[in-house]
Amino acid sequence: MRNYIELPNNCKSLMCKYLTPEIYSELKDKQTAYGFTLDRAIKSGILNPDSSIGAYAGDEESYRLFSSLFDPVIDEYHGFGKDDKHISDLDIEHLCIEHPDPEDKFILSTRIRVGRNLTNMPLGSAITKEQRDSVESQVIEALSLLDGELEGDYYPLLNMPKETQDRLISDHFLFKEGDRFLDAAGLNRDWPSGRGIYHNRDKSFLVWVNEEDQLRIISMQKGGNIAEVFGRLATAIKSIEKRLSFSYNDHLGYITSCPTNLGTAMRASVHISLPNLSRDMDMFQSITDAHHLQIRGIDGEHSDSQGSVYDISNRRRLGVTEIDAVLDMYNGVLSLIKAEKSMTL
Ligand code: ADP
Ligand code: ARG
Repeated sequence: MRNYIELPNNCKSLMCKYLTPEIYSELKDKQTAYGFTLDRAIKSGILNPDSSIGAYAGDEESYRLFSSLFDPVIDEYHGFGKDDKHISDLDIEHLCIEHPDPEDKFILSTRIRVGRNLTNMPLGSAITKEQRDSVESQVIEALSLLDGELEGDYYPLLNMPKETQDRLISDHFLFKEGDRFLDAAGLNRDWPSGRGIYHNRDKSFLVWVNEEDQLRIISMQKGGNIAEVFGRLATAIKSIEKRLSFSYNDHLGYITSCPTNLGTAMRASVHISLPNLSRDMDMFQSITDAHHLQIRGIDGEHSDSQGSVYDISNRRRLGVTEIDAVLDMYNGVLSLIKAEKSMTL
């Protein structure tokens, strides 16, 4: 094993920023109980120098064993210190908000997702094919017991007709294939085996299985009724938790493959049309920065906006409750709509 690490010259990620030669030599020979190593944790950032984070965990223990690297990355992304505690709050009664766009003028759709991984299983970077298949079976079984609005069917990616897969992706329901960051992290091994999507009839409740996290639990619908979307998600999580046990600790909250998703593992987003603001990106970004929001394109991460429609979501996920995360997005969206309206006059 090497005693040094040569980071790519043009590397901009937090991993490259914090992985000093001293930290590399401190951690290079360590292995988690599932056999995960530092070299595997940083491989995605090494092979993709344009990464913003550049590291994935292979299991919950990775965050402790490789904490000299993960702690500063987590602190810089979430503003969350190594002794801080995470608190979860998925109680819909605590979300006191009104509809931000009652006439449906700006918000096209709302989506809130959380990532979850099973206890006593490695994360996707370190999982074996047998373990992944077992996760898939356990999730299918748990989801088959959902009823009412959440009742639906599971569609494995294996043998899914290409047209069906492409339509689900372009309609914003399904994950894309071949993400180079996940590829390099070992998260796409054995693709498409073990992967799939569950959804109800209206596609307002969906679960992605064995993508970046073992579960991505998603609630979405047209328009901007954020409270309704959150309510459906909270109900679904509660039902699924009766059958599956999710990896969680008091420091990092819900354990996820990528450090950006720790804590709530929640991304609450709207697709919103902002033709005026999009002509003044400085103003646009000053509003999103003030509310801790991220701007993505409408085909998800690493995509471009189209026709002045943007995906606006909370950036902070750890050290804030789920209610706070949704409120970041809600308050930011109110400000964006106000600014957009003022520019029409
Ligand atoms: P994730 O949300 O899981 O981090 P992505 O950013 O790649 O992953 O988004 C996944 C999919 O969800 C993409 O197809 C994206 O267009 C869609 N999506 C995200 N937010 C919304 C929204 N508010 N309305 C409709 N589709 C959305
Ligand atoms: N690993 C990629 C990077 O460092 C993605 C990071 C955040 N996105 C995610 N889907 N986890 O840029």
